[in-house]
Parts: sequence; structure tokens; C-alpha cells
Amino acid sequence: MKKKYLFSPGPTMLPPEVLLKMAEPIMHHREPEFEKIIAEIREGLKYLFQTKNEVLVFTSSGTGAMEGAVSNILSGGDKALVVRGGKFGERWGEICKAYGVESIPIDVEWGKAVDPLRIQEMLESNPSIRAVYLQASETSTGVKHPIKEIAEIVKKYDETVMVVDAITGIGVFDIPMDQWGLDVVVSGSQKALMLPPGLAFAALSDKAWRFVERSNLPKYYFDFKKELKSAQKNQNSYTPAISLFVGLREALNLIRKEGRESVFRRHEKLAEATRAAVRALGLELYAPDSPSNALTAVKIPQGIDGERLKDLFFEKFGITVAEGQDRAKGKIIRIAHLGYYGKLDMVMVISALEMLLKEMGYGFDLGAGVKAAEEILMA
Ligand SMILES: Cc1ncc(COP(=O)(O)O)c(C=O)c1O
Repeated sequence: MKKKYLFSPGPTMLPPEVLLKMAEPIMHHREPEFEKIIAEIREGLKYLFQTKNEVLVFTSSGTGAMEGAVSNILSGGDKALVVRGGKFGERWGEICKAYGVESIPIDVEWGKAVDPLRIQEMLESNPSIRAVYLQASETSTGVKHPIKEIAEIVKKYDETVMVVDAITGIGVFDIPMDQWGLDVVVSGSQKALMLPPGLAFAALSDKAWRFVERSNLPKYYFDFKKELKSAQKNQNSYTPAISLFVGLREALNLIRKEGRESVFRRHEKLAEATRAAVRALGLELYAPDSPSNALTAVKIPQGIDGERLKDLFFEKFGITVAEGQDRAKGKIIRIAHLGYYGKLDMVMVISALEMLLKEMGYGFDLGAGVKAAEEILMA
């Protein structure tokens, strides 16, 4: 018997309450009962995104909302500033390119957060930049970017919006959209929302909606104006992933029951415990200065085969962790703790890490990581 566990930063493990709801017989998406579900989802998403405005839901993976955040916000000839500190930052640039938008990159060393002053300098010297695209949590490196500080800067420019990919940020740490003045926040279902992949979210400020009004880039499925009109009638423009919507209502109920702040505190604790364990094992964090609470990226020590370590997690323990992508391939493993994860989940994955490292010949005191984690988890 091999029990399986997901410790990848998406998809993540799911609560039984959500799984059971999604297993119910399917309903029709134009029934009054489904409209009631959408109405509840709209309220739950506003609570989670901390916004008074509508949070649009699309049946797609998170990248769909990212694409929409380019095609609905910008117009031909606009320039975009893109923070490139990992795979997902690069994706913003790729989407811009696909739409013929010139993007100016700010390249950030992988594992480091962007310095807000660099954004300020770029905006000052390039008045034609209409949008700043970045991640709240760059999942490929485990970095958290200073969103609040950057929003303070972008806010001063009436003709520039700030677009945040919070796909591994929403439901993990505090991102009060309205309070901080974020213009577009996108997310996805298979992360802290405790759902399978298949839903993407986009919330827009009043300022961003003004950009949508004048945007002339081509769009069809990811048409924010059209979807807003449908949402306001508790409808979807097309056939939505009905079972995922039913699951979403349940997941949002669970989040509301636990309370937003408690959810953030839980993630903080799990992340701190994981980081402490890593240090106690003599390992290094890939993003030591500004780590995201969504996942912990761990540098593979000298003499250990990173890919083999990742494979052994699954072969020996049925645990899926993520390896490094692109230039970080073979150099890191990424252990996730976003969504439906509790204290003992982290003890388990740290214990597995210890047993595998020991077997692979890495020297440390067995139990040192678990002990460090437990001390934090008990506090
Ligand atoms: C920060 C971030 N952005 C974008 C994506 C892409 O989302 P999807 O794979 O759902 O399209 C991911 C998925 O891992 C992510 O973590």
C-alpha cells in the first residue's frame, strides 16, 4: 500500500468536505440553485480578496487570468514593466509579447525579491509604462515580493496600474487589495483555495476598470467586461466548471469559518517551522531574505543529486515535492505548505526529508529538523 501526499505548490491536497461536494450529481448552470451558489461565491471571494469590487471567475488554469490581465488592461502601443525574478515573472513578459505589447523587464536574481526603488526609477524614466506586472509570491523561487511598498509607488501614477499575480499569495498571506491600492489581482484554484486546478480569478480596482474601458487588444473568452456583466446577474458567460464552483463555495465557507487572519497565521507557522527545520539540518534556503509562506525552496547540498532526492520522496513515501525549474533545476526542491495543510503534515514531510538525506549520505543529526519544527509548532 502506498499512501500519496501532495507537497507541491499546486495542485495541493484537498479537504474531504470539498471533495464530497464536488462528487454530488451535477446540476445545470442556468438553474436558480446554481445562481444561489454564484451569489455566495461572489461574497466569499470579496472577503478573501479583501475588495468591494467583483472577483471574476473563469474556467481555466491561473494563466488564463494572467492573459486576461494583459489583454483587458492594455492597448496597442502601451508599454509594460515586468518583474522577472523567476519562471512566472517571465510568463508576464511572454504574454505581453504574444499580444504585441512591448515589455521592459526588471531582472531580479532568482531567490531575491525586487527592490521597489528599481520600479520607481523605471516609472520615472519611462512615462509611457501603463502597467507593472509582478508576482506576490514567485512560486519558482519561493520569494515574496514587497507588494505593499511597490503599490505605494505605482499609486502615484494615474496612467499606470499595478497587476499582481497572487496565484500562490491569495489565502496564504495578507494581501488587502483595496487597502493597499492594488489594481488587478489574479489567482487560481489549485493552491490555497483548496480545489483542483480549473478556475482562475481576477479582481480589478476602479482605476483598472477604467483601463478596461479603453483597452483595444483582442479578447474573446477572457473578456472582463462581459464576464462582469454575467457575474452581476449571478451567471457565467459560458458553461463553467460546475463541480468546481460547487467545491469553491465549500472551500470559501471553510476559509470564512477558520477566519482570514487565522488562515494567514496558520500558513506563517507552517512556513516558519519548515524554514527552521531546513536550517537545523544545515541546509540553506533558496530565498532566505524574503521567503513566501506558500512554499519553502531548499538548496540541494553538495554531493546530493537533487532530482534523485525528489524521485525518492515519491518512490519511498508517496510524497510529491516540486523540483527546481529552468536554471534552478537540480539545485532546489520546493516543499509546499499552502492550503489544506496542518502542523503534522509538515512534521511528516520534514521527517521524510531527513530519512532520505540520511540514506543519501548527507551528514546531520537525525531528528534535528523535526525537533526544530516541533518547537515552533508547539509555541
Ligand atoms: C505564481 C504563479 N503564477 C502563475 C502560475 C500558473 O498557473 P496555472 O498553472 O494555473 O496556469 C502558477 C502556477 O504554479 C504560479 O504559482
